[in-house]
Amino acid sequence: MLKSHWMMAIAWVALSCSHLFAAEFPDFASLPSRAETPDPLVMLDGTKVSTVADWNAKRKPELKGLFQNFMYGYLPPKPQRSVVEEVIFTDNTFLDGKATLSESRLAFFGPDLKHRLHVLLVVPNKKSGPVPVFVGMNFCGNHALASHPKIHLVESWVYKSCVGSEMERATEKSRGTQAEAWNLDLIIERGYGLACFYSGDLDPDTADFSDGIEPSYYKPGQTGPAPSDAGAIATWAWGYHRVVDFLFEQHSKEIDLKRIAAVGHSRNGKTTLLAAALDDRIALAIPHQAGCGGTAPSRVAIDRKDVETIRRINTAFPHWFCDNFALFNETPDKLPFDQNCLVALCAPRPVLFSNATEDQWANPDGQIDMLRGADAVYGLFGAGGFNVKERPELGQLVGTKLGYFIRDGKHSMERRDWTAFLDFADKQLPSGR
Ligand code: GCU
Repeated sequence: MLKSHWMMAIAWVALSCSHLFAAEFPDFASLPSRAETPDPLVMLDGTKVSTVADWNAKRKPELKGLFQNFMYGYLPPKPQRSVVEEVIFTDNTFLDGKATLSESRLAFFGPDLKHRLHVLLVVPNKKSGPVPVFVGMNFCGNHALASHPKIHLVESWVYKSCVGSEMERATEKSRGTQAEAWNLDLIIERGYGLACFYSGDLDPDTADFSDGIEPSYYKPGQTGPAPSDAGAIATWAWGYHRVVDFLFEQHSKEIDLKRIAAVGHSRNGKTTLLAAALDDRIALAIPHQAGCGGTAPSRVAIDRKDVETIRRINTAFPHWFCDNFALFNETPDKLPFDQNCLVALCAPRPVLFSNATEDQWANPDGQIDMLRGADAVYGLFGAGGFNVKERPELGQLVGTKLGYFIRDGKHSMERRDWTAFLDFADKQLPSGR
């Protein structure tokens, strides 16, 4: 057998292993309806889980499978090989010499992807040891985080709404236009690093997958996604995992690998929570204003107009989830989980839900219920969960390992949000872990 054939054979084995659970799950028609939020500690067959060992060995893998099978689609497998194709630049004079900014282009093989993932990394120069780092996914390209001329300008599709974009392409005018969302100076001042990537490097947020990595994982003859194949959020979560691999493989001296936090806003926040739920290397997660399909309950009355329902999200953004998810549009109470179970998969790691008063669409009150509904699993770990019952005062961080924050204002990521993120990380991710 030629080497490439061996590689393909191994890739197919890896692919089919990632789908192992699918065959074990009931089909949609035989799922029972339950109006109440599912208990994360009760297995699909009704067995109650009461030990950490059973949680880890049985319920956690079951929930990981259920979320992928019925909602997000199965993440592609880890590539057999990831390489840094090029370190595009390194600048140790960034932010008046306070930080080193670099960008690396990653390539993946097995299967061989034509897409390249660009990782922008900023790390403080003054440090007494390895630093904690946020891994984030951005909306408009790495070049939008800072007006540094060497940051690679995205060549593929970008949102029309990205400042400086012309005909859905980035231009020189796009540089630095998201600086206020990412606050690199504050992150550095507080002693953290940031590794950031653009979602469109892996799958532009358009209605089909032809421009993303997804078709590279299709079986021979397959022309579109199967019902539980990865949607865009699953593909983007795979991207978070590849950035974590990159930090482990290339930056283990300067980054504290036990203090990797994931962050993202809105659809990128939905991705953040999924990425953390499926990868224990992510030590803390901040899905910011993530809402429906992320931090908000799927079980809301289907005719509610003030918050997003799964019918609305599957209609407006059908490519974010796998096709199976749309089966639940009219009957969300048939879902064998709710988003509290996705939080529970992060236990005992810290998770912060952050919100804004004018972002009712993201259902900030329903999100409180999701944290409460994960509390029992944190309790199992003796990890101090969440017993907040109603909206806290504006601008106050509440909770412990499970945290909640709401401020006034709009759906956006701002400096005051980052102050809360960093305060939460300082408390929940102390050095010397
Ligand atoms: C829309 C969508 C939300 C999403 C948001 C965003 O408002 O309905 O689910 O979170 O876009 O990503 O900005």
